[in-house]
Amino acid sequence: MWDKKAKRRIGDRDLTPESLMMSYGYRPDWSEGAVKAPIFATSTFAFQSAEHGKAFFEQAYGLRDKEPGEEMGLIYSRLNNPSLEILEDRLTLWDGAESAAVFGSGMAAITTAALTFLRPGDLLVFSEPSYGGTEYLFHNVLPQFGIRVECFRSSKGEKGLRQALERHAGEHRLRMIYVETPSNPTNDLVDIEACARVAREYGTEDRRVVLAVDNTFLGPVFQHPLKHGADLVIYSLTKYVGGHSDLIAGAVLGSASDLDLVKGTRTFFGNIADPFTGFLLMRSLETLKLRMIHEMESARKLADFLMEHPKVEKVSYLGHLREGDEGFDIFSRQCTGPGSMIAFYLHGGEAEAFRFLNSLKLIKLAVSLGGTESLAEHPGTMTHSDISKEEQPRIGITPAMVRISVGVEDPRDLMADVGQALEKV
Ligand SMILES: Cc1ncc(COP(=O)(O)O)c(C=O)c1O
Repeated sequence: MWDKKAKRRIGDRDLTPESLMMSYGYRPDWSEGAVKAPIFATSTFAFQSAEHGKAFFEQAYGLRDKEPGEEMGLIYSRLNNPSLEILEDRLTLWDGAESAAVFGSGMAAITTAALTFLRPGDLLVFSEPSYGGTEYLFHNVLPQFGIRVECFRSSKGEKGLRQALERHAGEHRLRMIYVETPSNPTNDLVDIEACARVAREYGTEDRRVVLAVDNTFLGPVFQHPLKHGADLVIYSLTKYVGGHSDLIAGAVLGSASDLDLVKGTRTFFGNIADPFTGFLLMRSLETLKLRMIHEMESARKLADFLMEHPKVEKVSYLGHLREGDEGFDIFSRQCTGPGSMIAFYLHGGEAEAFRFLNSLKLIKLAVSLGGTESLAEHPGTMTHSDISKEEQPRIGITPAMVRISVGVEDPRDLMADVGQALEKV
């Protein structure tokens, strides 16, 4: 059997993920010597024999226990495909996960993770604000399946989480804690270790409480939730991992046993990513760290520039956290870099924010984030417009707020663009 894990070391040195992104999980001699993994554009796979086909199906339906080290046989591309398996292996390296599952979108990953573990009558508690689509799923869709949903404000941390649980004391079955940290769009941080403590405390022998963390904003380079006690890490791969605003995909990472369950659900929901997207993602992974570091350095310069500008009231950027600030302690323990998402508040309201956005020349006015090009948007009327106007300020979203995702352009050009747009306000 081929031991791909052996390829992660040279002598006594463990190779870093960035060094392995060009090779891990792939054998050129199995594909005519091609240096790059081909796109396995096939819906189905020929079995070597009927006995092999039978054994693969027994494994896929859990009709027998897996042999030690046995990998899932290739059957049909709704279950698995080499382009995606290599991608999944590479994704595990950044987070130190045992296993990963890729999906057709970040929302597919979130929905599948939620419905793998939640059942009618169970309670899901999540941190707010979270991405608007996640909020909609949790507030409006899951309750239709009998799942109880409660939220706590990210900035209230462990205390807020415990208060949310107390609101359901004695009449709930807590099954999942879901946090998005840093939160979209406010950059609030949630303490993953504290949430893991609460999850263990509330879990019972026959009802484990699963802690899931959406790591889209900082991961997989600057934050590794599994190391802080999370059970599942979730990504919109559409963002930094894809990194070029040309694909939609998602992922769930965690232990082999949890991921067996998630992949089982994925098979029947039918929401695995496609092989071409897998190929694009592998190409993107090769430059992931380079892009994220460059974008972070530019974001720091742009955030400093915004801080100094008289038209700007407040800037929310993780790189500005100082000792004594709310979130500084969590940042120091949990994150290895501040990433490249900036939220800032203009003096004024929606009219001023719109004038700024309409005046940008280089930065594009679009939702999404993590791409090579810088993007700006208005959370209150765009990504988070489903949250009521009364509720928005409570979670830090105001009409004067603008969110910028910083890309790989020259930061001096970005400052020139932001500067001229601010002059128009
Ligand atoms: C933090 C976060 N999580 C999840 C998603 C959903 O991902 P996708 O659009 O790939 O479905 C998004 C999308 O913006 C997001 O920002």
